[in-house]
Amino acid sequence: MRNKAVLLNILLAAIIVVLVYQLSTNTAENKIPAIVKSNAAVKNDSPGGEKKSVGAKGHIHPKPAVVIGSYGTDGKPNIMTAAWAGVVNSVPMSIGVSIRPSRKTYENVMATKAFTINVPSAQFVAHMDYAGNISGYDEDKFEKLGLTAVKGDFTNAPYIKEFPIVIECEVSETIDLGSHVQFIGKVIDTKIDLAYLDEEDHVDMSLINPVIYGGEYYYGYGQRLGKPWDIGKRFKDDENPTFQPKLYNNPTLATIHMRKSVRHFTNQAVSKEQLTELVKAGMAAPTAVNKQPWAFIAINDRTVLDKLSEVLPYAKMLKQATGAIVVCGDMTRTLEGQAQEYWIQDCSAATQNILLAAESMGLGAVWTGVYPKKERIEDVIQTIKLPEQLIPLNVIPIGYPTGEDQPKNKWDKNKLHWNGFSKSEQE
Ligand SMILES: Cc1cc2nc3c(=O)[nH]c(=O)nc-3n(C[C@H](O)[C@H](O)[C@H](O)COP(=O)(O)O)c2cc1C
Repeated sequence: MRNKAVLLNILLAAIIVVLVYQLSTNTAENKIPAIVKSNAAVKNDSPGGEKKSVGAKGHIHPKPAVVIGSYGTDGKPNIMTAAWAGVVNSVPMSIGVSIRPSRKTYENVMATKAFTINVPSAQFVAHMDYAGNISGYDEDKFEKLGLTAVKGDFTNAPYIKEFPIVIECEVSETIDLGSHVQFIGKVIDTKIDLAYLDEEDHVDMSLINPVIYGGEYYYGYGQRLGKPWDIGKRFKDDENPTFQPKLYNNPTLATIHMRKSVRHFTNQAVSKEQLTELVKAGMAAPTAVNKQPWAFIAINDRTVLDKLSEVLPYAKMLKQATGAIVVCGDMTRTLEGQAQEYWIQDCSAATQNILLAAESMGLGAVWTGVYPKKERIEDVIQTIKLPEQLIPLNVIPIGYPTGEDQPKNKWDKNKLHWNGFSKSEQE
């Protein structure tokens, strides 16, 4: 009898514990996935908050992502990406790089006792990623990536001509650490593109915009560039058969060819100053008879962005975007008669300027069409309360790109005709 009562008590206690636990975990806050909750907590905490042990990890940030150049015994130049690299001594200036014995680079450096460190700028992030995905045992990476190997002036190692900083090293020591062998390289010479040096040979790192290896993503200065082991796939023939971005020294051409429709954004906010700069670029576009028949509505209010994303079926990315610009035609400023419709071309030119300016500023943007779809026009007018003289041509969601969206190769020689349309020219 007594035993029965004890059992009953234990059962009752267990039921109460389960009920209390369920009640405490059923609030809306607790339904948020763990990662979001912990991020939110970090944001609210002051510095020095609670820390969590994650085991023996190499979380030193920022980490470099550099490319090691070396020659094989056959004289063939090779490159490989390394994040386990850094300055380790001042006199003599020395750099340590840790390389697994399975790499072609390991074999090369063991044989030649020399290597170069090549520091990529953000425009070479995909090249660098590719060099870290494919082995020199399988492919000539210089040839594949269209990069130029130059024999070092002082060492038996090649450097990458196109990269802004190159450092020639002679191996002074090798240390077997376990998975990797660390090569200590005595720096013999460092070369920097004149474009990045001031009169006193100081480097402007913001101009070089070096790549930072962040584990999940590569970063430039304040922007995500793309995913490691992924962004370099653009050079793989089976993944993306056509796109091999040509390297342009001309920054305008580089921006034009690197522009892409960005539909995935991080939660980093676009500033009012950045949106203003973009609108300035829009207003620099040419217009028929210089009418400038436009008005730009810049949006940085979360509620308005969300409302627009709800009414516009093709602009759902506004939910992620932290800013937007609505490019509108102002019917009180257009030309008369047939020429009235020039407003569409004028506002389109402004839109393209905004998209290119965003690309050049490390931001991402995408043109989502509104005009001439009546329903969409009405929805935008209602949502952002436009006066009747304004017709929205498009909505441009803007934000910091996650790196998922990449440019496409649209060059098609068959669509180019010389001196009039000619069929024979196409063949
Ligand atoms: C971001 C990134 C960082 C890397 N860091 C290193 C490193 O520090 N050491 C290493 O041995 N391999 C590293 N790798 C892997 C090599 O670059 C990769 O195995 C490469 O294909 C080796 O080329 P190789 O065989 O031509 O030398 C890294 C790869 C990436 C993408």
